[in-house]
Amino acid sequence: MKHLIDPTDLTREETDQIVDLALEIIDHREDWQEKMAHRKLSTLFYEPSTRTRLSFTAAMMELGGNVLGFADAANSSVSKGETVQDTVRVVSSFVDIIAMRHYIEGAQLYASEVSPVPIINAGDGSHSHPTQTLTDLLTIRRELGHIDGITIGFCGDLRFGRTVHSLIKALARYKDVKVILIAPEALKLPDYIRRDVCDKMQIDYREVETMEEVMPELDILYMTRVQKERFLDEDEFDRVKDSFRLDCEKLSKAKTHMAVLHPLPRVNEILPEVDNDPRAAYFRQVENGKFVRMALIVKLLEWKNDPAHGMPQDDIPIYNPHAKCTNPKCICASEAAAHKFRRSTGGELRCWYCDAKVK
Ligand code: CP
Repeated sequence: MKHLIDPTDLTREETDQIVDLALEIIDHREDWQEKMAHRKLSTLFYEPSTRTRLSFTAAMMELGGNVLGFADAANSSVSKGETVQDTVRVVSSFVDIIAMRHYIEGAQLYASEVSPVPIINAGDGSHSHPTQTLTDLLTIRRELGHIDGITIGFCGDLRFGRTVHSLIKALARYKDVKVILIAPEALKLPDYIRRDVCDKMQIDYREVETMEEVMPELDILYMTRVQKERFLDEDEFDRVKDSFRLDCEKLSKAKTHMAVLHPLPRVNEILPEVDNDPRAAYFRQVENGKFVRMALIVKLLEWKNDPAHGMPQDDIPIYNPHAKCTNPKCICASEAAAHKFRRSTGGELRCWYCDAKVK
């Protein structure tokens, strides 16, 4: 059965099929109104959300289906100590498909191990956000007409920005994509993405510290906020929180066809004056999120019993009871997940659930 935990759970072909279906739905919305009649989606959100939860809800409603779940785990039996796996076992007996967001990294992968229905990762800590990636790919297609050959600058919190990590993984499978990483030292891309994605997949990338120096080269400028909630040290957050500001003057140096993307919410990294520029695509991006989630729900349920669309089998877990994940925000630290690891490109063990280093 196909779950969507990481963008690479979808092949490039499957990813394109979902984006193509979203484009088809946009053009013929009336044809999809009954597609999910009598079917149910559960949204289990252990962390706040506006866009992701409501766009999943709107997507299922536009397909004629129903939605149940919680927006705050404190109002569920999670507050009595129910585990992620038990919650999913219970909810899966009521619904056809589950979208889950969790502040714990690897929670959805752990949940998928016991789930009889497809699990969609709607964001796990600072690790991964694959449905935002599908939204971003659809937005790039609609703004530029193609993904191959683009130059994209990622600007902001590349360390904790899960949308950045996921989109880089997905873009690695397109041709001639150039990536420019714009961040100060404290917000740089994690080592595991740099080595196990950028180097392994031979992505053409370079690192700079200001957006001004690369603005004229970009087809896409992908901004993110600094993720305050992920910092363990508030002083460290205060030092970097105002690292970037996109204003109209900086944007005036960009190509006329460049598109500014942002997963939102924004804080202060894009000034409101930019919103009126036709290149500001971030509110169009939000609407794309609903259409691509409609396409995803349809495809995952279509593929559910099709062995041609299972989970990737190229990564075999290594079990080692003596090794330990070093990430305090990993599912291994809060639930009885197995001591499972993968071998990284550099040869060291990485946590199966969150990709953190192991000791
Ligand atoms: N882009 C995104 O994930 O937004 P929410 O946190 O509001 O869902």
